[in-house]
Amino acid sequence: MNLYGLIGYPLTHSFSKRYFTEKFSREGIRDSAYELFELPDIAALPGLLATQPNLRGLNVTIPHKQAVIPFLDHLDESARKVGAVNVIKLAAGGKKTGYNSDYYGFRTTLVAWLGRLGVTETAALILGNGGASRAVRAALDDLRIPYQVVAREASATTLSYQQVTGELMAAFPLLINTTPLGTHPHPETFPLLPYARLTTANLLYDLVYNPAETQFLAKGAARGAGTHNGLAMLHGQAEKAWEIWQD
Ligand SMILES: NC(=O)c1ccc[n+]([C@@H]2O[C@H](COP(=O)([O-])OP(=O)(O)OC[C@H]3O[C@@H](n4cnc5c(N)ncnc54)[C@H](OP(=O)(O)O)[C@@H]3O)[C@@H](O)[C@H]2O)c1
Repeated sequence: MNLYGLIGYPLTHSFSKRYFTEKFSREGIRDSAYELFELPDIAALPGLLATQPNLRGLNVTIPHKQAVIPFLDHLDESARKVGAVNVIKLAAGGKKTGYNSDYYGFRTTLVAWLGRLGVTETAALILGNGGASRAVRAALDDLRIPYQVVAREASATTLSYQQVTGELMAAFPLLINTTPLGTHPHPETFPLLPYARLTTANLLYDLVYNPAETQFLAKGAARGAGTHNGLAMLHGQAEKAWEIWQD
């Protein structure tokens, strides 16, 4: 039996466990299982690996995405660029490699979307300055898409929401929401932008996937902008994890 799992704390509801359990059943993968491993302290990771010799791969969630790094033997390019790990491959010889599949999930889905739209050149405003924002920045760096980060406080490297104008949204037409604003159970919230100044030239990508249409996307659609939610990225990062584990 090949075992896969998720480490984090607390683990109340897990998308990954449901996703992989359904995938194994749908695709007739009978030799694999996916389990949750609640780890309040990341120092317990070596003990977990010692007691679970069938583990082939792990997903990593809050609060261990950065703290897990010293416990690994090697970091993939994606994890190095983002500075965080959400997938670990456990090789037969015991070597532990960290990856960031959010980077791949975002990059792949953005490239596919821009390709469908025939957009070859763009520039982005990234809303939010947390972990998901770092994965988005790394992907945009690699795709050579220029960007500005918008955060609640302006700094040497970030603009504030008050500084976002219609002109800025025309110069940076791709708006990417990496904040949790709009997520269930607060679907009424949204990033504070001058939405009335959006045009059909704008493209709004929301990393939020629950609900499928956030206020951010609805306000963009109302102005004729293109919209894309976070569901394909969520599935894309999970499929990338599976690909890494099978590689
Ligand atoms: N679709 C996917 O596959 C996928 C993957 C990863 C994450 N996500 C989603 O992305 C979102 C962010 O995740 P994360 O891990 O980056 O979280 P995080 O590290 O907590 O960062 C979120 C950032 O959003 C900003 N923010 C938080 N609350 C805000 C508020 N009330 N108003 C304005 N800005 C606020 C903050 O930036 P400032 O303080 O600098 O403004 C913060 O750094 C979550 O909803 C998560 O579910 C989706």
